[in-house]
Amino acid sequence: MEPTRAARKRPSRLQDNLVYGLVWLACLAPLLWLAWKGFAGDLGANPIEKLIRQLGVWGLRLLLVGLAITPAARIFRQPRLIRFRRTVGLFAFAYIVLHLFSYVGVDLYFDLGQLWKDILKRPFITLGMLGLVLLIPLAVTSTNGWILRLGRAVWQRLHGLIYLIVPLGVVHYYLLVKADHRPPLAYGAVFLLLMGWRVWDRLDRKR
Ligand code: HEM
Repeated sequence: MEPTRAARKRPSRLQDNLVYGLVWLACLAPLLWLAWKGFAGDLGANPIEKLIRQLGVWGLRLLLVGLAITPAARIFRQPRLIRFRRTVGLFAFAYIVLHLFSYVGVDLYFDLGQLWKDILKRPFITLGMLGLVLLIPLAVTSTNGWILRLGRAVWQRLHGLIYLIVPLGVVHYYLLVKADHRPPLAYGAVFLLLMGWRVWDRLDRKR
């Protein structure tokens, strides 16, 4: 019997797993690259700073990629892209946790008293920490079980925190750079663009 159009269009389980594998690989690639460079002793003159910074910047990039998935799914009419939001978001969280651990472990030698002083005294650390703390409930409730437990409306409201977390990451970045502010401003511009699309989309749907 001739398959229906919908059945013909649906990717096979193998294709599905392959795409998932590629997304995982793309998210893991910066970490593997950093580990490779680290073991090869090729992280430059200040490897600790390079490690902390790279983990932070990849965390921020993945947060933005996560925010870009919904617009991309709508613009390119690929609703199946939405299922990658959770994977990308959890990888962003993992990078930021590693970013924190590399700072606390490698830079501060696990001196939590010093970390607390930094949180109180250095505004860029205060904002970064706030961003990370707010990310925790999003990571914990990212499963389907939590969507059911909280109900979709509450879950969506909670996950709206991402619109606060990303600017916190951008301002954290802006405050810590001393000379060239263009990179954090560029990430801020990408965030504003993605927010602009969301506002436009909401107005368009109301019309
Ligand atoms: C949402 C959470 C966070 C994001 C998105 C984030 C992102 C970033 C980015 C993009 C950079 C600069 C990378 C570069 O220069 O190329 C950075 C640097 C840094 N971040 Fe974070 N970060 C976050 C949380 C934290 C937390 C919780 C801490 C520590 C408590 C922290 C400590 C640092 C430090 C020490 C640096 C390097 C500063 C320097 O080299 O002078 N960050 N972070």
